[in-house]
Amino acid sequence: MGKVIFLEFERAKEYNTPMKKILLLNGPNLGMLGKREVKIYCTTTLADIVKAVTDAAAAKGAEVVALQSEDEGALAHAIDLARGVYDGIIINPAAYTHTSVAIHDAILASEVPTVEVHISNIHKREGYRHESLTASACVGQICGFGAKGYLLALDALV
Ligand code: DQA
Repeated sequence: MGKVIFLEFERAKEYNTPMKKILLLNGPNLGMLGKREVKIYCTTTLADIVKAVTDAAAAKGAEVVALQSEDEGALAHAIDLARGVYDGIIINPAAYTHTSVAIHDAILASEVPTVEVHISNIHKREGYRHESLTASACVGQICGFGAKGYLLALDALV
């Protein structure tokens, strides 16, 4: 009898679990995906990626808010505001990966578990892309798996 009550209590907790909220951030020039250097970044558009991540998240009971910006400050601000609101961040900081202490610091300050994604394998490319200033603030980094990397990041977070 005690076991049954305990099980019901566990189920009630499941019903009350609010949807997980994931913030999907993309940095500069990623709005050009589909047209931009397609040999490196393939023909998938950012809209395709946002839809794929949103659909996959919905199947896992999570919701996604997506933002793309060319502006380092806007990205850092979005990360700051994510604190206490989002359960996870998926970020492709694009070129800011290699330069942005501000985005690194924002990820740490927000205390939101964050996964960094790169469509290309940055370690196989020009030397200035090998270093990520932002990855050390993240739970992990996924790179080199094309647009699928965003779905792998979602799996890691949810
Ligand atoms: C990128 C890799 C970066 O070096 C580059 O500046 C980008 C895209 C990627 O997804 O492979 O804009 O983040």
